Amino acid sequence: MRTIKLLSTLVFFTATIILQSNGFSQTYGQNGMVVSDNTAASKIGTAILKKGGNAIDAAVATAFALAVTHPQAGNIGGGGFLVFMDASGKATTIDFREKAPLLSSSTMFLDSTGALINGSNHQGLKSVGVPGTVAGLYLSHQKYGSLPWKDLVQPAIDLAENGVVLSWTLAAHAQQIKSGSGPKFLKNYYNNSNGEVAKFGELWVQKELANTLKLIRDHGKDGFYKGEVAKEIAAFMKANGGIITLEDLNKYEALEREAIKGTYKEYEIFAMPPPSSGGVAVIEMLNIMEQANLDSIKFNSTEYVHLLAETMRRAFADRAEHLGDPDFNLDMPLNKLTSKDFAKMRYENIDLNTASVSDSSKFGQIYDGKSTTHFSIIDKNGNAVSLTFTLEQSYGSGIGSPDLGFIFNNEMGDFNPQPGYTNSGWLIGTNPNIIQPEKRMLSSMSPTIVAKNGKPYLIIGSPGGRTIINTVFQTILNVIEYDMPIDKAIEGMKIHHQWMPDRLVFENDLMSPDTQRVLEQMGHVLQGRGNLGRLMGILCPSESNVYIGASDSSSPDGGAIGY
Ligand code: GLY
Repeated sequence: MRTIKLLSTLVFFTATIILQSNGFSQTYGQNGMVVSDNTAASKIGTAILKKGGNAIDAAVATAFALAVTHPQAGNIGGGGFLVFMDASGKATTIDFREKAPLLSSSTMFLDSTGALINGSNHQGLKSVGVPGTVAGLYLSHQKYGSLPWKDLVQPAIDLAENGVVLSWTLAAHAQQIKSGSGPKFLKNYYNNSNGEVAKFGELWVQKELANTLKLIRDHGKDGFYKGEVAKEIAAFMKANGGIITLEDLNKYEALEREAIKGTYKEYEIFAMPPPSSGGVAVIEMLNIMEQANLDSIKFNSTEYVHLLAETMRRAFADRAEHLGDPDFNLDMPLNKLTSKDFAKMRYENIDLNTASVSDSSKFGQIYDGKSTTHFSIIDKNGNAVSLTFTLEQSYGSGIGSPDLGFIFNNEMGDFNPQPGYTNSGWLIGTNPNIIQPEKRMLSSMSPTIVAKNGKPYLIIGSPGGRTIINTVFQTILNVIEYDMPIDKAIEGMKIHHQWMPDRLVFENDLMSPDTQRVLEQMGHVLQGRGNLGRLMGILCPSESNVYIGASDSSSPDGGAIGY
């Protein structure tokens, strides 16, 4: 169930104003704003903006801060994507997705009969992809940053060295980890200086992480991919059954890629191209919805939910069939998938009264990654950053070298693990996303910037595995089609359909029993759940000189800070 942030009075801070609206909360800023899953990290990003840093500078500082304060997903041991639009309206992206190690193979998670060893692609050191985060932040800064690199890493070092006050959420994680039989690294991860698990409100110090961050501060990208950090990663891997080598680390490069572009009515959409599937799918779905006359379709009506679900079903089938790492799949039909003609064909094939059936002999897969994190930033000149990064599952592989103080991802689980085998449940075996050395695994992360009149209008993204694509898509529609303020757009009822398994997932409390009954009569298989998405957004209405931010109320430690 969603926890609703209720503010009973107007609350004024020196520079940030939080106003009640629709029972949720929005934050207003005139000069800049950071919205992230952790308020301490948002504050650090905003402090960089106040010092004269641009949106990229603030993004680098916020990301490193999240690696300290939000370790279940904020990271230096994982990877992600950044979409950047500068004040002149020029957009680009940075791809720092993890890569399969050189020693990986398409059959590495299979038994002798060729079947997937259940769970093996998400467990242990073989599930770790070559991390991309540090390279991605460094490349973003080299190309578009303005303040010195050291000034952007230092705040995270200070947090790690001086300690962060353990939030209720992290304290609960610490207790869960203590009581479970988790990997050794996580067993001691939340320990305080007395060797006991830190408690709610206690200062939690991460000395080893601070030391690793100092090397990154002093040597940039090489502080991670060369020298003592890289040597320790490789040695730890070798000693504990992992396959990442020094060569993998030395060779890793983040890449600048052209943003994938679409339009929705008078708005332009700038999103992440493959190896994210998010940008292509969001644009395909917006194009399909553009075919419908939403003026006459009420938000959250049966008609609307059915149309959304059928649109999602089609886009996820296309995703499964066609998308993967562009460096290994040179013939992906990206122009076709994002074209208006293709959307028209997809729309015309939707029966407005009856659910289609996802065909299990074709394509599909569900994997709802448990933890990823997104933040949105805008600076006083109107430069915008939308950044999503991840360890894949919450706390990734749960493994790290105690000497380095950070956790490795388990992103190899995002590859199609069993080539050629697709079923009606969880598995997909299509070619574009099978494991190959140095390939990037397909992602659903969908950091997106919607522009109006050539300027950033909506900066949006979310964690949530495959649900990311759909929650970002619906939030865009909520703002553009249903004129919702950003907080309401984020909190409004969301659904999720991903072709296979053939289920329409909805938020329990937000869909009426009547709507549920009619959808079932139309042939949908419904599955209620507590919450979809954890969106972090900023709206920049062109008519007013103000930025309006909101963090999803499902984020216990999240916060929008503007000034
Ligand atoms: N690991 C979640 C994603 O990349 O989609």
